[in-house]
Amino acid sequence: MGALILGLVFFLHVTQAQTPPNWNKEGIPNLLKEMTIEEKVGQMTQINLDVICEGEIYKLVEPHHLQQSKLDEAIAQWHVGSVLNCGGHAYPVDQWHQIIRGIEQTVEAKSRMKIPVLYGIDAIHGANYVMGSTLFPQQLAQAATFNPALIQQVAEITAIETRAVGIPWNFSPVLDVGRNPAWSRFFETYGEDPYLCSVMGQGAIQGYQGGNATQLDNQHVAACMKHFLGYSGARTGKDRTPAYLSDIQLREIYMPSFQAAIDAGAMTVMINSGEINGIPVHANPKILVELLRNEMHFTGMAVTDWEDVIKLVKVHHVAVDLKEAVYQAVMAGIDMCMVPNDYDFTRLLIELVKEGRISEQRLDQSVARILELKMNVAKIGDATAVGLKDKIGCDAHIKVAQQVVAESITLLQNKNNILPLKKESKIMVTGPAAHSLILMNGAWSRTWQGVDTTWEDQSKMTVVEGLRSLGGRNVSYRRGCELSSYKKDEKWLKSLKKNDVIIACVGELPSTEKPGDIDDLSLEKAQIKFVNDLIKTGKPVILVLLENRPRLIEPIAEQCAAIIMAYQPGDNAGEVLAKILYGEINPSGKLPFTYPKFNQSLLTYDHKHSEALDQKFGENAYQPQWPFGHGMSYSQLEYKNLKISKARNASAKPTWIVSVEVENKSNRPAQETVLLYLHDQVASVTPSVKKLKRFDKKNIPANGIALYEFVIGTEDLSFIGRSAKPEIEGGIWDVYVGDLKGQIEFQP
Ligand code: BGC
Repeated sequence: MGALILGLVFFLHVTQAQTPPNWNKEGIPNLLKEMTIEEKVGQMTQINLDVICEGEIYKLVEPHHLQQSKLDEAIAQWHVGSVLNCGGHAYPVDQWHQIIRGIEQTVEAKSRMKIPVLYGIDAIHGANYVMGSTLFPQQLAQAATFNPALIQQVAEITAIETRAVGIPWNFSPVLDVGRNPAWSRFFETYGEDPYLCSVMGQGAIQGYQGGNATQLDNQHVAACMKHFLGYSGARTGKDRTPAYLSDIQLREIYMPSFQAAIDAGAMTVMINSGEINGIPVHANPKILVELLRNEMHFTGMAVTDWEDVIKLVKVHHVAVDLKEAVYQAVMAGIDMCMVPNDYDFTRLLIELVKEGRISEQRLDQSVARILELKMNVAKIGDATAVGLKDKIGCDAHIKVAQQVVAESITLLQNKNNILPLKKESKIMVTGPAAHSLILMNGAWSRTWQGVDTTWEDQSKMTVVEGLRSLGGRNVSYRRGCELSSYKKDEKWLKSLKKNDVIIACVGELPSTEKPGDIDDLSLEKAQIKFVNDLIKTGKPVILVLLENRPRLIEPIAEQCAAIIMAYQPGDNAGEVLAKILYGEINPSGKLPFTYPKFNQSLLTYDHKHSEALDQKFGENAYQPQWPFGHGMSYSQLEYKNLKISKARNASAKPTWIVSVEVENKSNRPAQETVLLYLHDQVASVTPSVKKLKRFDKKNIPANGIALYEFVIGTEDLSFIGRSAKPEIEGGIWDVYVGDLKGQIEFQP
């Protein structure tokens, strides 16, 4: 009976949910006329969930729940337009529903305009703040699949599991190009290449938002491309430190992934917390208006990053006080401010408008974008009633996560075909990453930094558990070493002789943003010493890497029999990794970045010729541990018959069809990604030694052949010229596919 009454109350609540008057795009001008300055500024205000929960900010009362008086203040007094984040850790779906419903009900009861509050969250490798949700490999690993259709599926599932709890806005994908492997957010990128980032990013946008970017259904979420622009270009590689980027670099390297996302209909953008050439991006109208709006034609909504208006005063020192900072950011072009822990932004912006320093028209511009976004993503009524609860972490979703793991894991070295392992082999699994779900998951996993083991899902398999599920008693385990400390145990090392192989799982503790800054890219000395001792046993050592970024392993790499890059594959990876090691799955991942060998040699694959010059006056200075695009298969794959033919496309422009065959000379089916690069032999802006222009992944049956075909157009021959605009000059381009080479000639 109780349930019946509750159900009835709920039904009434849903059906009585009122639509604000003029709640359609044509009605926006009328809505703006009706709204007070306070209500408009409130729409531009985004607060942290902590602000409206019981307890203190960052110290909420467990279990976290809304405090009605604080919520009333946010809605009735400050007219807050958006709330973000969880209060420090993930929630089960029902707890999310209580929070989202609580906010909605307060809007209905206490807000004059009844404009829905837009809830935003970081669901960046699955709905990571929803307990029981599907965790996917981090973005860097996703890029290693070179499979944009799969990445679209990842985003579709993430959207469903996010929407299931009532949240319609996701702060993802990261479209910053990973140019500096030391950067604490390297694992959040799609790697070092602008084209790869563009293609993968478009897949993610399509998956999050569905086909129709102007009106989402209740299975999709608004995407947020971040962090515009140049965030990953910091000179030191430390988080939120200055980038010094020329117009040419900005346009050649950092803009394409954002342009591709805008073209795919990305609804929102988050701004870079850092500075470019001495100007904080949050205070730079050249980037936020001239570039983003006028040149790149972005019409969606721009949100600041965390506390970034405050940082204009406290970190960047470009504003004398917060009021000046609010003025600078709003006049530079932000629409919504992720304040997020007080109402100072709101109060000061109201003052600035009332004093006439900022016009109401300026507010209207941003509020119109916010209202339109809300109309596009949120149906009025109960956001939690979408009926997707059962989909959270369902088998079908886990299967896709496993597929991503299978296609991302990258075989870097395999001497004497030590891999795949035989089932009867005696294996010692060891190392600080061998039995740790947090190291598999990485940051943004149930908590921000992802290091709190309380939130691990114990039903999931670690690497050693995965191996045991296949190898049974032949698999032994001993931790052997900590992440940063190692005590040699001679007796144990001697006993390792009994084994056929040693699998050493090494890596780093998850981290992101400022806590992830490092001074040395090398793998921790303790782990290097440990692996060296394992090598000295004379038994073949297979190294498995679980890390935020490519930690240098030069002192041990050569002596390891095999090396596998597992990235941060998520907690669905244990069994899949084991299947790869035992050969039930043929690896097909390829590095989406250059794996460096030394701290002072952090070249990207698309470096300039001058950077390739070595001490002996050759062109061999690019000597990474492994190059971009490297990744082996258990099959022997031979590239042959590169053919280039010239044609014309529908608009009579010249195009080139490049085809190549890949033969699988083994009895195992394989998957292979073919990468096509161009090298401009001469250009008025120094050309790179090569640039990725196309890639394609295909299945190749055992002893079969696959044909790959690529179409290259004149736009692929363009570069950012001296005028900082795309230019095409006549000349010759080398075409590189695997170890094959051809040429294209073109005169405009
Ligand atoms: C990060 C963003 C994130 C935001 C909200 C910031 O610190 O830089 O990537 O979306 O927090 O959690």
